[in-house]
Amino acid sequence: MRTLIKNIKELVQVERQPKLRVCGKDMAQMETIKNAYLIIEDDKFAAFGPMSELKEQNADTVIDATGRMVLPSFCDSHTHLVYAGSREIEYIDKIRGLSYEEIAKRGGGILNSAKRVQEASEEQLYEDAMKRLEQMISFGTGAVEIKSGYGMTTEAEMKMLRVIRRLKETSPLTIKATLLGAHGIPMEYRGRQEAFVDLVINEMIPQAAAEGLADYIDVFTDQGFFTVEDTDRMLDAGAKYGLRAKIHANELAYSGGIQCAVRHNALSCDHLEYTGDAEIEALLGSETMPTVLPGAAFFLNMVHAPVRKMMDAGLPVAMASDCNPGSSPSCNMQLILSFACVNYRMLPEEAINATTINSGYAMGVSDMLGSIAVGKKANFYITTPIPTYEYLPYAYGENKVSRTFLNGKEV
Ligand code: NIG
Ligand code: FE
Repeated sequence: MRTLIKNIKELVQVERQPKLRVCGKDMAQMETIKNAYLIIEDDKFAAFGPMSELKEQNADTVIDATGRMVLPSFCDSHTHLVYAGSREIEYIDKIRGLSYEEIAKRGGGILNSAKRVQEASEEQLYEDAMKRLEQMISFGTGAVEIKSGYGMTTEAEMKMLRVIRRLKETSPLTIKATLLGAHGIPMEYRGRQEAFVDLVINEMIPQAAAEGLADYIDVFTDQGFFTVEDTDRMLDAGAKYGLRAKIHANELAYSGGIQCAVRHNALSCDHLEYTGDAEIEALLGSETMPTVLPGAAFFLNMVHAPVRKMMDAGLPVAMASDCNPGSSPSCNMQLILSFACVNYRMLPEEAINATTINSGYAMGVSDMLGSIAVGKKANFYITTPIPTYEYLPYAYGENKVSRTFLNGKEV
């Protein structure tokens, strides 16, 4: 099956020598080709270039993209997409001034979602998540990492992971699964948190590994949640089963989470509102992708991670949606692009790199996704007619995705 897309106004985020991630100053670089063609062979990109170099083609499908651009699909490397119900009522408490931590202390927040997930059937969780995946696809996402974490019991955590496995089997998206057994402390474990950590280590990790349900392991390492010592124990246990770490860190305080992530050679550490010189120093030279979640910072009205300072120091930055019912109830990566530019003063090129190749790295797929390169998986979208690619973050709230292709096929 051969598809030719011709007369592309601009082919964006092209790579001739693919890299796994882009760092520092290079984040402002992004190659594009104006008036371009793109050829897809089965599920992979086969060739691209300027229209002037297009030779005669035998294609099964020819698409004329006059006036439209083509971009690689977003990689959304941090989501809590499997959940039950919504939490808009609790959000009113936030508007009235209660903090995220105060709501959690009252049994709201993550525990509220946990109760609903425990009560929900696997079928219902699957159907709800599938609808969200369809919405994500329509906004231009082509790969997504999904965490458990609203289970709080071994049984419910395994239920969530089985739902993710079924999504992997049935959705055209590339999906990675993360065991987030340590997302919150159940009421019955308050005051004896180590016992809950033991449960994660002795039951959740071995069971998830035995059934091959998880690719990665996550911990909410932060003030009021899990300590660095708890995290060390759980990540060591996960590593024994081949689960690489991707942790929540420094969202609420300088909690030591970033240094902990680097020590464990985590694939990513995410949130990072509280990132200072010591944290930047720890990340430099590491293989851990600093990942910022602008949707959560926006929705919770938090301080912003010092993204410019991080890039100036030479670090890479990734961005993801954090899609979840409590702190970021949106899975729209186009909004993340706009937040990147508006709230973090990133250039459009930096924002596109953060949400494609670098977020692909943060979920371990940038060798096959996150840019348009020969041999990479053909996950991409064709935009509506737009004047420039800078228009993508600029026109916030408007869906600029018109047609989406995953694994070379239109969906
Ligand atoms: O990434 N920070 C921790 N966990 C989620 C929020 C989950 C929730 O509030 O339900 C996050 O923002
Ligand atoms: Fe999260």
